[in-house]
Amino acid sequence: MRKVGRAAQARECARRLAVGGSPSEETEALEERLRQLSGQASSPSLHHHRSRRWLCRLAAVVLTWLTILHLGACAGPDDLRKAMLGLPAHPSAAELAVSIAASTPFHRRVALVTGATSGVGLETAGALAEAGFNVLMGARSPKAAAEALTAVQERARKRGRGGTAELLDLDLSDLKSVARAARSVGGSALHVLICSAGVMPSPLGAEYSETSDGIETVWGVNHLGHFALANALRPALRRAAREGFPARLVLVTSEHGHRYFAADGLPPILPPSSEGWNAFAAYGVSKLSNVLHASEAAERWWAADGVAAFAVHPGIVGTALGQMRQASSASAPPSALQALHNFGVWLWWHVIAWPVAERVESGAASVVFAALSPSLAGLKFAYVKHCQRAQPAAAALDASAAAFLWAESERLVRQGRVHGK
Ligand SMILES: NC(=O)c1ccc[n+]([C@@H]2O[C@H](COP(=O)([O-])OP(=O)(O)OC[C@H]3O[C@@H](n4cnc5c(N)ncnc54)[C@H](OP(=O)(O)O)[C@@H]3O)[C@@H](O)[C@H]2O)c1
Repeated sequence: MRKVGRAAQARECARRLAVGGSPSEETEALEERLRQLSGQASSPSLHHHRSRRWLCRLAAVVLTWLTILHLGACAGPDDLRKAMLGLPAHPSAAELAVSIAASTPFHRRVALVTGATSGVGLETAGALAEAGFNVLMGARSPKAAAEALTAVQERARKRGRGGTAELLDLDLSDLKSVARAARSVGGSALHVLICSAGVMPSPLGAEYSETSDGIETVWGVNHLGHFALANALRPALRRAAREGFPARLVLVTSEHGHRYFAADGLPPILPPSSEGWNAFAAYGVSKLSNVLHASEAAERWWAADGVAAFAVHPGIVGTALGQMRQASSASAPPSALQALHNFGVWLWWHVIAWPVAERVESGAASVVFAALSPSLAGLKFAYVKHCQRAQPAAAALDASAAAFLWAESERLVRQGRVHGK
């Protein structure tokens, strides 16, 4: 009733204005009233119009998504990804490793892979075992380690190229554990060291934390633990190089992490402090450190030992990265919040990001490429992605930042030893 009354008033105003006359106060008042009335009278229909527009947009997004999922199901995710993102197609990690092994036998060669219980590390370990390597699988959680070992051994046995696998107890958040792991490799030659283990805290609810050595956790695990491990294993890599094998240190980094999340470069003080800490920046700095670590190791080890160092981005791969984890010692099941969060991460990888995410076999192929490809022979340093050489961010090629990182990392590892932590 009220609305009809207002509409009738608006019509009357419009009629009186249309009849005309010279602009007067009355005309202006009428015009103002007409504006108010028409605004009020049309607001419900405006609301309808707006919500219809939003519904149409939502329907378009859902339809596009369903079409992408359907195309993915028909053409296969790899072909779809290639078509959508213009990425090069390449073989899986195992196909690549086995094809290289056809011309360079890897039987009795030793590869150590960290993070070998999950995702890219597990797939890389399996591919190397299929190619004939004796794979040392760095792992911190006994249950995950036992399952991963069985899977990798099974792959080695099926392929029949003499590959083997064994576990190496390694917790990168504890420098004592790192030193023990390196000692247990002993005096034997190590042909390839692949540092794949990594943590990426979720931006939802992640808080600053420290390793048992008092180092910020993300940088401590992703960079410092690997730095200590690689340095302790340098003599073993040197031995392999002196036997004539192109020994390599391979650090798994992240294209987006090192390029975008660490846009300000390394923080002036290492390890990163709790002040202003945020999950993405912490991950970015650790991944930038991986590339700088590789470039500085190449400077120091190539001429002296014949050991090359490469950094590799595995692609965007649907793994357990980003999930909330229990500490290695904790045997309790995840809390309800952690379980919910991890389900969200799973949903992200397997439903939302699925059409653009790489399969783990494809992501690990870039790691295998960095570790074994003869096309990288003679290079002391390279940044690899999508199974080819690429250009890292400018900050990752900063020689003074690399030297600063090396010196600070050495100091922190030494300090950890001195304090017997
Ligand atoms: N997935 C991607 O899209 C992506 C993109 C760019 C770069 N990357 C890089 O790829 C690498 C592998 O990640 P992913 O995707 O395979 O993740 P993932 O499935 O979560 O695997 C991470 C591995 O690291 C191990 N790890 C974590 N903390 C450790 C510690 N303190 N000591 C020893 N091992 C530890 C985990 O062992 P537990 O099983 O015991 O937890 C697990 O085996 C990481 O360096 C990551 O930064 C991944």
